[in-house]
Amino acid sequence: MKTILVTGGAGFIGSNFVYYMLEKHPGWRVVCFDALTYAGNLETLEDAMKNEKFRFVKGDITDRKAVFSLFEEERFDFVVNFAAESHVDRSIEAPEIFLRTNILGTQVLLDACRKNNTRFHQVSTDEVYGDLPLDRPDLFFTEETPIHTSSPYSASKASADLLTMAYYRTYGLPVTISRCSNNYGPYHFPEKLIPLMIANALENKPLPVYGEGKNVRDWLYVRDHCKAIDMILENGRPGEVYNIGGHNERTNLEVVRTVLRILGKSEELIKFVKDRPGHDMRYAIDPTKIRNELGWYPETDFDTGIQKTVEWYLNNRSWWKNIISGDYVKYYERMYGKR
Ligand code: NAD
Ligand code: TYD
Repeated sequence: MKTILVTGGAGFIGSNFVYYMLEKHPGWRVVCFDALTYAGNLETLEDAMKNEKFRFVKGDITDRKAVFSLFEEERFDFVVNFAAESHVDRSIEAPEIFLRTNILGTQVLLDACRKNNTRFHQVSTDEVYGDLPLDRPDLFFTEETPIHTSSPYSASKASADLLTMAYYRTYGLPVTISRCSNNYGPYHFPEKLIPLMIANALENKPLPVYGEGKNVRDWLYVRDHCKAIDMILENGRPGEVYNIGGHNERTNLEVVRTVLRILGKSEELIKFVKDRPGHDMRYAIDPTKIRNELGWYPETDFDTGIQKTVEWYLNNRSWWKNIISGDYVKYYERMYGKR
């Protein structure tokens, strides 16, 4: 029996990971520590709450006292850090909270792990590598690609990665880092491209596509990401970075058109809007290392995953409607006007 601390487990990927681990390792205890920011949602964890192996603790990773006292109450075998401010557009508007949560919060967790000699896994992003040009489809991010960030969000994530590696080198803390491409699937907050487009299309609202919609993202079904992290915890080598991606590159316009096609909606809903400042052109992961070392491969291709995702949003309308009728609406309207 192992006990795992999942920080940020009330958000999109963290909650999927909570469910994945409870199912995959029924004997393990899963403790979720989450500040419940605008992106955290206890409704998402309703089913986990019914499982006696699961415990939810509300708390902020930047709160040293709260984190250290949790480590006094429980002995963790692993800490997996999903807790972060995660939206690039918000980081452009207001970077400070990104630095506080993503860098200083990670440091607090690293210190707590150091004190207790706990294995630490940092969930990072391919955005730390910057972007690739559209006219070089032969190029991919490997673990050796230099860090070259574009947004305050990616700069904060890269800083946390560097700090994580510093704790490995300086203190010998057992750490691993994963850098994944764009995730999609259930419980994805409807400010990100795919869930926003599904929600807007279902309500016959305009679908705001930045610039010309030519930017490319490499889509990873969230469950495949969870599987990869579980494999890294079990067999990953301390001090190593693992890239996670499944060669599912699509332009944003292709993604939006696919959503509209599945929903049977008109492409007239697409509205090209002002581009994001510093907008990265293309992300594309080379997953050779994790495939060769750990035997990971993605099980869900984009066509299957997007179909399942759209169906999930159709079947769980109250989940996203509750969100868009709350505080998030104010932010959205400030950015794009009334929906
Ligand atoms: P999310 O925004 O959906 O969830 C973040 C969660 O962290 C929320 O539950 C929020 O309440 C919690 N949180 C925020 N600040 C906190 C704090 N100070 N203390 C405790 N909890 C806090 O994010 P996500 O999309 O699930 O991303 C999870 C992780 O994966 C992040 O670290 C992100 O950088 C990384 N990542 C995400 C993607 C993606 O496509 N979504 C891709 C690559 C990497
Ligand atoms: P997003 O989901 O914010 O993820 P990231 O910026 O981390 O890749 O955006 C994915 C892509 O979709 C990105 O190129 C920006 C674009 N985008 C739009 O065109 N319109 C939107 O309303 C949003 C949120 C994103």
